[in-house]
Amino acid sequence: MGKIKIAIIGLGNCASSLIQGLKYYSNHSDGLWHFKVGGYKVEDIELVAAFDVDPKKVGKDVIEAIGYNNAPKKVELDRLNIEVKPGLIKDPLPLALRELKELKVNYESKIMDELKSNKVDLVLNCICSGMDETSKIYAGLSLDANCSFINITPSRIAKDPLLAMNYENGKLCLVGDDLISQLGGTAFHKGLMKLLNSRGLKVVKSYQLDVGGGPETLNTMDEELKMRKREIKTKSIKKELDYDINLTTGTTEYVEFMGNNRTSYFWIEAKGYLGSSVKIDIYLKTNDSENAGNILLDVIRATKYAKDREIYGAVNEICSYGFKDPPFPKGIEEAYQVFSSKFLTCEIDK
Ligand SMILES: NC(=O)c1ccc[n+]([C@@H]2O[C@H](COP(=O)([O-])OP(=O)(O)OC[C@H]3O[C@@H](n4cnc5c(N)ncnc54)[C@H](O)[C@@H]3O)[C@@H](O)[C@H]2O)c1
Repeated sequence: MGKIKIAIIGLGNCASSLIQGLKYYSNHSDGLWHFKVGGYKVEDIELVAAFDVDPKKVGKDVIEAIGYNNAPKKVELDRLNIEVKPGLIKDPLPLALRELKELKVNYESKIMDELKSNKVDLVLNCICSGMDETSKIYAGLSLDANCSFINITPSRIAKDPLLAMNYENGKLCLVGDDLISQLGGTAFHKGLMKLLNSRGLKVVKSYQLDVGGGPETLNTMDEELKMRKREIKTKSIKKELDYDINLTTGTTEYVEFMGNNRTSYFWIEAKGYLGSSVKIDIYLKTNDSENAGNILLDVIRATKYAKDREIYGAVNEICSYGFKDPPFPKGIEEAYQVFSSKFLTCEIDK
């Protein structure tokens, strides 16, 4: 009941769009997908703590810190009087962080104290992808501080059975992994597959090429990370079909001047009547951080509602709706229906 107190770890582009949305949707509704989730409105979400390692951001007010990102700035924001505290690093640095000098880090105990003293309900892990050990330690700290944890990065956190069990035993929720954008390349590709399949066509092969200019795209120029993301996206898209196809997706190119925008190119070949061929060759242009906004607002509210209802551990209905790599994946339509029946129709008014 009451407010949903959140802490954000990683004040990057996604955090910027989320924080702008928190203010904008406290008195607007255009562009907002779900007015209430689990009975909670957007205005029920309150940011109370924030962490980063970028020396430009640490020590600053959250609003000043998010100004350093290349996410679009659409909403006029006043200072929140929340100082960005230093986080921690337990992995080799991803490409975007290697450019920064003297990263700011802190002891684990200090981070936990900060979460406890602010009575945080849930922690949102928005750090760079590829920092698996760091994300795992944050998840452990969050558990010890009695906070639920949302992992939007591709690191295996909600998919880690031991962590999920520990969260369940601790009567807390753990959701992830790797946020699925509202209409990003993966969701769009899944939708196209589903449409072709439902119209009786057999998809034979397909590829998706992504070009973007945010720091996260730069990070995925690392070959190992690129392959990992490719594997997650491929698996997620193939989930829409009950047969195998020749699919390559997630290959990324970094073009700095694109900023936080992304262009995804799709090529699909399907076969139909008498072997006739249907080909799709299209592109989709989106903004990464804004594409994450609605899903973030939804999973934050659903996670709090799950905890209120004593549904603990890795909450499958939230994971499969909001993430590309959940513990138990579902097709895009089924995932939405299950999420909707549990979190969008509840009548509780908080
Ligand atoms: N639509 C989307 O944007 C989308 C979709 C799916 C997944 N994601 C995931 O969300 C995450 C964030 O994406 P973004 O575009 O906001 O990235 P970003 O690079 O803009 O921001 C990351 C922020 O995390 C900070 N950071 C890095 N390591 C840290 C640490 N150890 N402790 C604290 N802070 C740290 C960085 O300084 C930066 O401020 C990524 O892992 C990305 O894969 C985003």
